[in-house]
Amino acid sequence: MTVTSDSEPVAAVVVAAGSGVRLGGSTPKALREVGGRTLVRRSVELVVAAGAKAVAVVIADGQRVGFEAALTGMTTPLSVVEGGAERQDSVRAGLAALESLAPQARIVLVHDAARPLVPDSVTRAVIAAVGRGAVAAIPVIPVADSIRLVEADSSIVVDRTPLRAVQTPQGFRLRELIEAHELVHRAGLHVTDDAAACEAAGHHVELVPGSRESIKITEAVDLVLAEAIVSRRNRAGNEEGSGGV
Ligand code: CTP
Ligand code: MG
Repeated sequence: MTVTSDSEPVAAVVVAAGSGVRLGGSTPKALREVGGRTLVRRSVELVVAAGAKAVAVVIADGQRVGFEAALTGMTTPLSVVEGGAERQDSVRAGLAALESLAPQARIVLVHDAARPLVPDSVTRAVIAAVGRGAVAAIPVIPVADSIRLVEADSSIVVDRTPLRAVQTPQGFRLRELIEAHELVHRAGLHVTDDAAACEAAGHHVELVPGSRESIKITEAVDLVLAEAIVSRRNRAGNEEGSGGV
């Protein structure tokens, strides 16, 4: 059975309010470019391409001019709002903005602007899982490296077989995600992602296959890798006669 975004309205929150300390530089991380386009624009475009009909973009204080310039010309309804100190505060600000921007939305994607290259098939699989009834659906990939748990002055090997690395966009039933974030906020809990907020509220989290191409731009080397992925996609796109990425 295929359930598409046509069955229930989809909106998205793209969080770009972090300080990008590990990447460094004076330009906000989400305004850095890969293949000539900013991370934030790529991230907004990829959620729209998969079916999001409205997007709340969450930015840091004082960066509005740069972000509005990066998003110029987009026809999808957008709301650019300020985030908070922790990622979960930024997500809550984005969810609040959706209440007026997309009151009809039932499904929400929450996506890190720092992941500009998510394949369309991954985003659509996340939406489809929520469309089939999952409260929370998240893309994950197996862990490639050997893993060690470090304790004081020793370390032990950890079996990586059952481990998964978690990516975005994560998909949710909008009402349940808003309630989960309210609960986490009131309880003063720290969560690293939105799926963890849903879990804290007692919801099951469904896993869908992610992609190694959905890299998170964290350090300078990630921009090098991202440029290589975009070049390869452009070459493949040109061979197929399409416009590339
Ligand atoms: N983010 C956010 N608000 C915060 C912290 C993070 O919107 N208070 C966003 C970032 O902009 C990013 C995503 O959450 O798109 C994932 O965070 P991360 O990759 O850690 O980015 P930064 O926090 O910006 O980077 P760093 O941790 O190196 O400072
Ligand atoms: Mg961070």
